[in-house]
Amino acid sequence: MMSKLAQLVAVCALLFAPLALSAHQGATGVVKERMDLMKTQKEAMKVIGAMAKGKVPFDAAKASTAAQEIETTAAKIPELFPEGTTGHPSEAKPEIWMQWDKFTADAEGLETAAATLKMALEGEAPEWKAKFKGVIDACKACHKTFRAEKRRNR
Ligand code: HEC
Repeated sequence: MMSKLAQLVAVCALLFAPLALSAHQGATGVVKERMDLMKTQKEAMKVIGAMAKGKVPFDAAKASTAAQEIETTAAKIPELFPEGTTGHPSEAKPEIWMQWDKFTADAEGLETAAATLKMALEGEAPEWKAKFKGVIDACKACHKTFRAEKRRNR
């Protein structure tokens, strides 16, 4: 039998674990929308990444669907960054609006890289892994300039 205290601790752990897991509680509106978009992209990258590392068998259809998802969502990035939407809990840097042309070019860079990857995947071309690397670089390029705080998720 659990003691009353142990029970209480267990209940608290259950109640608060989900909060601790979501990195950016408190994000609302467009900031939440873009965080969700970025998470979708991260999940899609994981699907392809697992294949690139040989952890799961190569599945061209599944991988190209993921690449398509990155391409489609990349096109939506600029509209999710209305001017001045920075500050906690957002990691968006003010540089986004000071260098808007570079920011949108980085978003387009990702869109193009994902489209290129998708084509290679659809053709089951061996160079798809290099194209996948191109997508990773496109994520990093934008984050380097425009995302504050580099931590857990690339
Ligand atoms: C054009 C710029 C740009 C590109 C390209 C880009 N990101 Fe981001 N990303 C950002 C910015 C800016 C933030 C911070 C957003 C905020 O906190 O308001 C961010 C945040 C994130 C986050 C954290 C989300 C959260 O919950 O706080 C993840 C994960 C992420 N990006 C993954 C990716 C992946 C994976 C790619 C490539 C497939 C990618 N990003 C491409 C600009 C970009």
